Amino acid sequence: MKLLVTGGAGFIGSAYVRLARRNRPEAPIVNVDALTYAGNLENLRALETDPGHLFVRGDIRDTAAMHALCRERQIDGIVNFAAESHVDRSIMAAIPFLEANVAGTLSLLEAARKAGVRRFVQISTDEVYGSLGPRGDVDDRFDEATPLAPRNPYAASKAAADHFVMAHHHTYGLDVAIARCSNNYGPYQLPEKLIPLMILNALEGRPLPLYGDGGQVRDWIFVDDCCAAIDRVLADGVAGEVYNIGADNERTNLEVVRAILRLCGRDESLIRLVADRPGHDRRYATDAGKIRARLGWQPQRAFEAGLAETVRWYRANDGWAARVCSGEYRAYYERQYGTRLP
Ligand code: NAD
Ligand code: DAU
Repeated sequence: MKLLVTGGAGFIGSAYVRLARRNRPEAPIVNVDALTYAGNLENLRALETDPGHLFVRGDIRDTAAMHALCRERQIDGIVNFAAESHVDRSIMAAIPFLEANVAGTLSLLEAARKAGVRRFVQISTDEVYGSLGPRGDVDDRFDEATPLAPRNPYAASKAAADHFVMAHHHTYGLDVAIARCSNNYGPYQLPEKLIPLMILNALEGRPLPLYGDGGQVRDWIFVDDCCAAIDRVLADGVAGEVYNIGADNERTNLEVVRAILRLCGRDESLIRLVADRPGHDRRYATDAGKIRARLGWQPQRAFEAGLAETVRWYRANDGWAARVCSGEYRAYYERQYGTRLP
């Protein structure tokens, strides 16, 4: 299968491209990314001399360009990671989320349909289901039949995109599948997100800002486990179906931060409770029974082992983190392609 991966210079997309090239060296990948602030070509350094990986700077909102790429490269399948992904940014400015996540997905669907692409996998999120009550005796985790009830602009844009994906299946017969992933963590994640921010602050001895009371719960999955699940959905997911992806690792933010402090050899005096995120979803928890039972996937990393591996990666790759924090990572594109990023 000739694959078009979008958003493949971001955190999960780049992990997916690395995994797919390892698992199927015979199947070439065209990797399209607009290189927004979140795209980083350094994440793809391991593939620099790989003839089976072609990077193209492009925007999924550009239907004509995506259509031409699909036709010229005879693309069989698309995995759409490209998106604005950070909830706090969506609260500050929602329109870019409408543009990238909704208009972008719709535009890519149109390109795929017109170019006769055989399969389209949309990368979605458990946030589309809304917020759960406290952890308790009753199993109230999100399953694939849970109604969509997004509560922040990012989640609303991802839910809208999911509806367009399903509309293309029902109306035009496009072969689609949706993967709804829980909170990912691991190497190469931008330090705007909880785990890398807290690791870098702890390593530097800076304060760790916890929103509200720190009692919000997220369900964590190591990025490589998530990418392996996405690959199963691409290969064998049934057309028109949704698959939740999660690894049964519910933790409060406070529990996560305490674990990071232990791994970094710091004490809890660095924790600062700060103003809460507006409309902060209290708890996410994902029932991934369907993908386990029907596609034979299961996660390989326990949370504590994955977190320790992640802390080791950030310690060993302080240059990557420094170039991200200083903004120098964007110069990498200039050196590779001889043109400036806007
Ligand atoms: P990220 O922000 O690290 O990467 C997003 C990538 O998309 C960047 O490389 C960016 O340059 C690119 N991009 C943005 N707009 C684009 C456009 N219009 N055209 C082409 N490229 C564009 O995000 P991530 O954390 O890797 O998330 C990837 C996907 O997975 C997103 O769709 C996100 O909604 C979804 N997701 C993320 C998580 C998580 O925990 N990070 C969990 C569930 C779902
Ligand atoms: O659930 C999947 C979603 O997980 C993805 O769809 C999103 O793309 C991804 O960003 C993530 O969203 P969250 O809002 O859950 O992730 P974030 O890392 O921003 O925050 C995790 C939790 O930590 C959340 O309860 C807010 C809290 N937090 C976050 C930051 C950045 C803090 O307490 N302090 C912080 O500084």
